[in-house]
Parts: sequence; structure tokens; C-alpha cells
Amino acid sequence: MVDSAKLICRSLVQSSILLLGIASGYASDGPLPPICRGPYLQCATPYSIHIVWRTEWERITPVIRFGKTPTTLDRIVTGKDVVIKASLQTNKNSNLERLIPLRTRANLGLPKLHSAPPGTFQYEALVSGLEPATRYYYAVFDGEKRLTPQSESYHFITMPLSGTATPIRFWAFGDSGSNRKSQYMVYEAIMNRVHRDGRPLDFVLHLGDFAYYDGRDLEFTVRYFKPYEELLRNMVVWPTFANHEAHTSRALEGIGPYFDAFIMPTHGEAGGIPSHREGYYSFDCGRAHFICLDSHELRHKLRRQMSDWLKADLELAKKRGQTDWLIAFFHQPPYTKGSHDSDKEGDLVDMRKHYIPILEAGGVDLVLNGHSHIYERSMLMDGNYGTNNTVADNFILDDGDGNPNGDGPYRKSAGINPRQGTVYVVAGNAGARLTRRALMPVMAVTYVEFGSLLVDIQGDTLTGTMINKFGDLRDQFQIVKRGEVITNKLSHPWLLPDWKGLNWNTDEEWDVLPPVAHKLIVPDDATWQYYTAQDIKGRDWTWPNYDASRWKSGPAPFGFNYDKVRTKLDSMFNKSTVVYLRKEFVVEDVDRMNNFGLVIDYDDGFIAYLNGREVARRNIDRGRGRYALTIKEHRAYGQYEWVAFKDWQKYLQNGRNVICIEGHNSKPDSDSFLIDVKVVAEQ
Ligand SMILES: [Fe+2]
Ligand SMILES: [Fe+2]
Repeated sequence: MVDSAKLICRSLVQSSILLLGIASGYASDGPLPPICRGPYLQCATPYSIHIVWRTEWERITPVIRFGKTPTTLDRIVTGKDVVIKASLQTNKNSNLERLIPLRTRANLGLPKLHSAPPGTFQYEALVSGLEPATRYYYAVFDGEKRLTPQSESYHFITMPLSGTATPIRFWAFGDSGSNRKSQYMVYEAIMNRVHRDGRPLDFVLHLGDFAYYDGRDLEFTVRYFKPYEELLRNMVVWPTFANHEAHTSRALEGIGPYFDAFIMPTHGEAGGIPSHREGYYSFDCGRAHFICLDSHELRHKLRRQMSDWLKADLELAKKRGQTDWLIAFFHQPPYTKGSHDSDKEGDLVDMRKHYIPILEAGGVDLVLNGHSHIYERSMLMDGNYGTNNTVADNFILDDGDGNPNGDGPYRKSAGINPRQGTVYVVAGNAGARLTRRALMPVMAVTYVEFGSLLVDIQGDTLTGTMINKFGDLRDQFQIVKRGEVITNKLSHPWLLPDWKGLNWNTDEEWDVLPPVAHKLIVPDDATWQYYTAQDIKGRDWTWPNYDASRWKSGPAPFGFNYDKVRTKLDSMFNKSTVVYLRKEFVVEDVDRMNNFGLVIDYDDGFIAYLNGREVARRNIDRGRGRYALTIKEHRAYGQYEWVAFKDWQKYLQNGRNVICIEGHNSKPDSDSFLIDVKVVAEQ
């Protein structure tokens, strides 16, 4: 868009904000909109879509208004078309003052959100009666009060009719939810790419491990919904169940934060055979059919049902003749030597042994997985179900790189034809720490780099492109399905060079940087109380009610012989090796925090206490105060270290708290000393 056009657009948007602000009540009096998750889209079909969002501390009268232009939201969804769920249980950190008024008979009778923070309401609006492949704009309302701003970014496009020849572009990524810098860079790199190409995404496949470490509700909010918020409001993400989600969600019962978050087409409403299970399902987009399996739990618990459903679904796709492309996705990869090993781990071996034969017999073209934190992309292959060490001999149909600018695309016959080869992609490289173990012989490329996969389908050609976190194109392959192709298995295919390293870890920043989305609780220039004598009695000084009125106070950082020090402790030199620090602070909504700790630059060691309990120590082997022993030297290089507190949930409380730090120098005549610290919460 040229700049003048941009300007016109912007002024149009601004003037309509003003107009609608007055007309609809948005941004009028009253507090900020109480939406705490979403709105986000789910389960798109040619005729319907779901819009989901949450509020906290308030049950609203949920209304969706939508229409074909941003300014004519002339249709409405409300009443029984919006399912409301609630989390109203109390816990030790509940804000009872706000929670108790919500625990009415009507609210307690709502379906339950499994583990959302108390005071959370979720709204799931079914928008139906839509036209296929059509763009609609929408807004979320509380009765007559508009909660989402006037912005064209709140829109959705319905799926095209099954069987329609239409170009498709989707983004596939897995293992993203670390809240580390790399997660955000991978996302930004894809968005930049899509923007530059001028070809927006049609939808997204998430390959599992949305939110480390346990897939808890709060982790979903902080590590999945918040980072991708702008995308999720206008893009459907089709999810797959994974091992980290399984720490807190159960596929057999369909409960937990994962099943609270997502709505799947279990009745065949998006195409394919009804699965009647949220763990596995399928959907159509034009002439492509997508199949999601549960490779973690239902893989074995419902082996028979899921296999039978899969066979029937593949059969239907072939029979009805509206499908050119079959794409399967699930979490655990059948072929990998990244952070997981498909020759050694039972769940991966099981997928290869039991489900890959069904997928290949059904003529699947592309299989997408996560779980292994690496990018691995296979050659065109078939029939490799052995459970010993994977070999490539006699399984590869084309040992080229599949690159249109290299060895040329992989070729298959037109239509759906089993035994003509499948490409396997492991794209678990979208945010979690990377690892490679060994050489996986069937792979055409292996990259231990953060990134993700963009897939384009245009007529008879499918193109996969891996963009790394810096925006560089690192791998590209094509499958072309045209005419009649005779395929042969190669007895000695090309192999990637052998690889000798073990558990190669590429991200040194990992342990030292705090989570990206965090809130400052105590800033780095805060004023602390401090006491420098070597001796202090017991541990009373770490408790909240300790009387420290005779202590001095001064701003952080503390120490000497570092330029950044603001409270100089030169008097410690040759006298004392310890400084005792106390800082009171107030927090609310402890049950909405995901992590709590220090970001600290120190010389030489420290012990941290939260409300009297030790929660962290560095460089001090044992003991405390004057009895602290073996303090190793540690120079502060301005490289802050993220130190997550252990068991902080047990000790932190709503309201007043105290954090105490004893900073230690290695010896009395050490020529430098530093405690440069701030306190942060992941939120
Ligand atoms: Fe993972
Ligand atoms: Fe995983």
C-alpha cells in the first residue's frame, strides 16, 4: 500500500473509531473492557465459525455483532448461541472480596472451566448461517456496550466449499510456548514474510506443546493466547493434543485447559467423518483434507476407534473425489533425532508402527509433527515402519532435495494414490529449547534453528517453506501431482552427512533472560533497607513482621567498584562480606501469576527469601549469614540472570510481602561487590 493510501485508511479508521465510540458506548465512561483472553476464532466451516473470549471478575451479557463491512455489523449472535462457562472455585490466593459476589446460584450452575483462575467467565459464540469463502467483520459486546475496538483486524473468513479449487496458505508450527525471545521472533518472522508476500494466511496448524511446562490454564493465557493475540482474532488455529498439554488435560474425558480452550469439529461439520472425540478430527479446505490425530493419549487408549475412524475418513476423502491433497498432523513424529528419538521412544515408535501404514495406504502427501525441538524434513518416502534403527535404503522414492531451484520438485501422479510417497516434516522449532541427537537417515534437511513452516497449495503443487527466526528462507520443497508418475524405491539413496555431536544445545541465552511477557514488581532502582554488619541473629530479619526501622535505606544497585552502584558500600571492604537487604512490596491476583523471581547481576553470591522462606541461592554452597560457606568468585558482567523462585506459590500472598536478599562477597578484601536486582512476575 502506498503511503498516501495508508494515511487515508488510517484517518478513515480513526474517524470511525470516534463515530462508533459515541454510537456504541466503546471507550465511553467506565473501566477498561474486562476481556482477559481473546476474542479468538475456532472451528471454521463454510457456513459457521466460533468466536471465543473470556472476561474476569464480571459476567457480561455476551453478544457478537457481525456483518460484511466493518461499519455494518447488522447481524447478531446472542442468547443460547453463546455458551457461557465459569471458574468460581476458591483457593488460598483467591480475591474473596471480588469472588464471593460472583458465586450466585445462576453462575455456579454454569458449565465449569477446568482450571482457569477463579473469577473467569468464558463465552463461546456459534456464528452460523454464513456464506462460504466470505469475509465478515465482528465485534464483541456486553449487551449494548462494545468491548472490542473498531478495528478491521476483528474479522474472519469462512472456509471455501469442500471441493472448490482455491489456493491455500497455512502456517504450521509446534512447541512454541516458552515465552522466550525466540518464540516471538519466529512469529514475527512469519508475519513479516506473509505481509511481504501480500498473501495472507488462510489458517494455522499448531503441532502441539502450546504452553510449557504443564499446559496449565494460566500458561495457555501467558504463553499462547497473549503472544499471538493479534493473529488469533482473525485466524483459526487447528490444534493437536500433546504431551505437555497432557500434564493437566485428559483426552479421554475431554477435560482440562486444552479442551477448555479449543473447539473441534467432532460431528464432521468441517468435512470428513465425525470423530465424536475432540482429540482427533478432520476438516476440509477447498480440495485439501486435513487430519488431526492424538499421538499422545488416544493413540493407545482408543487405538481401535481412532484407527477405524482414520481408515474411514481416508476412504471417504478418496471416494468422493473432491480432494487432491491429504495432510495429516499430530504431535509425536514417526521419524526424528532431535530432542526426541523415534527409534527409542515408545510413543513415537507406536505412531510409526500403527498409524503411518494407515496414512500411507490412504495416500497422505504430507505429515506434520512437533515434539522434537528441531526442524527435520524428509525426502519423498514410503513404507518405512521398522522399529529398529531407521535406515533410508529401499524406502526413498526420490532422494533429491525437492527444491524447485535445486534438484526439482518431488513428483506424484494426479489424484490420491497410495505408495507414491509422503514428505514428513518435524517443525517443533517454534520456541522451545533446541536439541539434536543424531542423524536421521530419511531426512533431506535438518536444521537446529528456531523457525516454522509455511505451506502453499496451488492446484497440483504444494510448496513447503521453512523460515527461521531471523526471517531467512532455510528450506523449500515442492510436491507436484500431475499426470502418471512411475515411482521406484532407491536401494542406496543419498544421505545427509553423518553428525557426531550429542545433545547440541544452541541457545545460550536460555537460562539468563526472564520470560518475555512479565510485569515489574520491584524495579531495579527501588529503595531497599540494608544492613552491612557481618553478624545478624537467626533468620528473623527475613520475616514480614521484622522491625528493620534501625536499618539504613538506599536505592539499588548496592556494592562497590562498579560504575552503576547507587548505594556505595565501600565501608564493607576489609570488614564484612555480607549485606542484608529487605524490600516490602504489594501484589494482587497471585493466582494470575505464572512465574516469580529475580533478574539479577551479582558479585559474588546471594541467597533470596520470600516472606521468610529461602527461594533461591547462587554461588553459596551451604549455610547463611556469617556461616555461609564456600562463596565462589563471580564477576558481574552486566549480564542479568533470570532466577525463578522455587515454591513461590506457597509463600507469596495477595497484599503485603517482603523479599530479602543476603549478598555475599567471596572474601573481606575482595576488590568489588555488587547486587543489582529487580523482581518480576511472568504475567
Ligand atoms: Fe515440546
Ligand atoms: Fe512434546
